[in-house]
Amino acid sequence: KKATMVVDKEFIISEIDKRIYGSFIEHLGRAVYGGIYEQDHATADEQGFRQDVLDLVRELQVPIVRYPGGNFVSGYNWEDGVGPVDQRPRRLDLAWRTVEPNWIGTNEFADWCRKAGTEINMAVNLGTRGPEEARQLLEYCNHPGGSYFSDLRISHGYKTPHNIKTWCLGNEMDGPWQMGSKTAAEYGRIAAETGRMMKMYDSSLELVACGSSNRGMPTFAEWEATVLDLSYEHVDFISLHTYYGNKENDPGNYLARSLDMDAFIESVVAIADYIKAKHRSKKTINLSFDEWNVWYHSHESDKKLEPWTIAPPQLEDHYNFEDALLVGCLLISLLKHADRVKIACLAQLVNVIAPIMTETGGGAWKQTIFYPYMHASVYGRGVSLKPVIRSSKYDSKDFTDVPHLESAVTYNEEEGTLTIFAVNRDLSDALELDCDLRQFEGYGVVEHIVLEHDDLKAANTLQEERVKPHTGGSAKLDGGRLSARLGKASWNVIRLA
Ligand code: AHR
Repeated sequence: KKATMVVDKEFIISEIDKRIYGSFIEHLGRAVYGGIYEQDHATADEQGFRQDVLDLVRELQVPIVRYPGGNFVSGYNWEDGVGPVDQRPRRLDLAWRTVEPNWIGTNEFADWCRKAGTEINMAVNLGTRGPEEARQLLEYCNHPGGSYFSDLRISHGYKTPHNIKTWCLGNEMDGPWQMGSKTAAEYGRIAAETGRMMKMYDSSLELVACGSSNRGMPTFAEWEATVLDLSYEHVDFISLHTYYGNKENDPGNYLARSLDMDAFIESVVAIADYIKAKHRSKKTINLSFDEWNVWYHSHESDKKLEPWTIAPPQLEDHYNFEDALLVGCLLISLLKHADRVKIACLAQLVNVIAPIMTETGGGAWKQTIFYPYMHASVYGRGVSLKPVIRSSKYDSKDFTDVPHLESAVTYNEEEGTLTIFAVNRDLSDALELDCDLRQFEGYGVVEHIVLEHDDLKAANTLQEERVKPHTGGSAKLDGGRLSARLGKASWNVIRLA
């Protein structure tokens, strides 16, 4: 089969906001306790942070991490997590039916972020709490000193403010499972007032209002429209969440799921712009896709866990090769929409539906999805270009005209690098790619990275890394034409400079 592509320097979709390569750490399962933090671990530093995990996070070059939830945040009292650790209360977390010991809170997480070379995307509790507590947390985190909450932070040993710029106004407030869930009108007003008060302190903050928990919610679209109608001038982003799975074991249909992400993004852009028109506003609301991933492998085992324990192994999906291919397609979808998606968080980062896994007391290892995420984060900086693609297509159970070739191209003018990300969705045949790169005279192929495996269900463990990339791809550049054979069911990163 064949596919052609034309890449032009002038076909710029947008500058890529590096925050699209963000991730997420929730107080859930072993993400924090046994994940980023384990006091007695052989690699723990003086604060109990696992160095083996930090090394892997640094390898991913994660620019921003959403924290502390998720469903958890909707019942969280941030005050429980600051001050002397031995005086912090143990609380029941109703979202995940666990016990939260509060050994890690805002300040320790800010320290971890500094060590990981990332910044915080802080979520506030708009479930059981409201604008006042959000305002107080903001003062605690960002004000230099000389006020009650900033001085409280200083008394906790943190003289320098954390200067958090990006804030989520609650989490999945439309979900009936959410503590303190709300109607769109109730939430829209609270988001507006919280946003307004936070911006009274600092108008440069970037605030994310909750969109629907997923595209399948019965209130989807109406929710976004109502929330934005009520909060438009006080927020900057609307959030999107989605998780995919292959329960039916239909890989062709599964790999087409990124078309659903495309459609989801395009629908939310349309709604945001409808409200912009309605308000005759000059301001554009952008999108924060602050939860996305594959999540289904652990659904059954989670039902068997005992409630009310500390850090049980919840949501520990073990990802296989086909999951990595879909994650690659989803990253491409984000890049194709880089003009409106300015923040995105792979949910999550460690142990909980995560690219990085640990054994409590043991080693840390990379899941299959680690690789496409790392490649996009490390090589997908600069501007996103719009390639003109012609590809053979197929139909699947839920999708028609699914292109075998899914691709995005990023160009970093400053560094003089061009990167082609490409997935061949065809499960049985290779794709012969012919790409017109006439404008990139003098460029050559640096490397053609390939992630492939004969077994779509192959997965990694601590002991054996069955799915890992190699650099033996066939890409060649000759007279301005790039040719490459994209193996059946493969993730490809063709780096040129
Ligand atoms: O990421 C896991 C959970 O999925 C989050 O806590 C919640 O926001 C979503 O439903």
